[in-house]
Amino acid sequence: MKSSIPTTTTSTLLTLFLLSAFTSHLPSAGADAVTDRDGAAIRNGGTYHILPLFGVKNGGLELAATRNETCPLTVVQSRTAQIFRGLPVRISSPYRIAYISEGLILNLAFASSPSCAPTPPNWTVVKGLPEGQGVKLLGYGRSTVSGWFKIEKSSLEYLYKLVFCARASKACGEIGISVDDEGINRLVLTEEEGDGIIVEFMKASSVSA
Ligand SMILES: *[C@@H]1O[C@H](CO)[C@@H](O)[C@H](O)[C@H]1NC(C)=O
Ligand SMILES: *[C@@H]1O[C@H](CO)[C@@H](O)[C@H](O)[C@H]1NC(C)=O
Repeated sequence: MKSSIPTTTTSTLLTLFLLSAFTSHLPSAGADAVTDRDGAAIRNGGTYHILPLFGVKNGGLELAATRNETCPLTVVQSRTAQIFRGLPVRISSPYRIAYISEGLILNLAFASSPSCAPTPPNWTVVKGLPEGQGVKLLGYGRSTVSGWFKIEKSSLEYLYKLVFCARASKACGEIGISVDDEGINRLVLTEEEGDGIIVEFMKASSVSA
């Protein structure tokens, strides 16, 4: 724009500011689409099983009541003997786009949750836990960290990392798994790059969507 804007009002300036803040979060034109394990692009708002490739015999992600929780609020990897795909997760971006691309800010939420759990069953990160920062349901009640989840590529095709970025510090960490004495595989925020889990996405059947 070469001409000055003499009639600019504070509100247009604010709008321009918000617009630029908004667009700076948008994926760059070259950002790659995230695909499920069949190679199909992940739909914004679609439901998928998230399968960590961490110990072949373990399954997908679900909720567990850990420590003193009377309702399952903790996001864990299933340890059932047979392969269990876990609960479907709704992957959605606040932007009005059809497909999810790498690095886009996301809400992750279970498609359904136990009736005792707070709604919406969105994932959140809680700090100050014995295991550090853990992934729980929104409404857990203790110190949640405001921020966004993102999906980042791994070095392998169709395989990705889950990342959480804190809103205040802009610091991002990979989601990993911490196994406790009781053998519970909790999802936690890791500190070192490369400590996170590698996952694949499997489209949930329309019945559970
Ligand atoms: C669980 O224990 C923590 C302290 O470890 C406490 O802050 C929290 O309120 C307890 N929650 C319930 C539901 O008792
Ligand atoms: C929860 O996630 C949904 C998308 O699944 C989103 O529309 C909603 O804004 C989220 N709610 C909160 C409080 O983050």
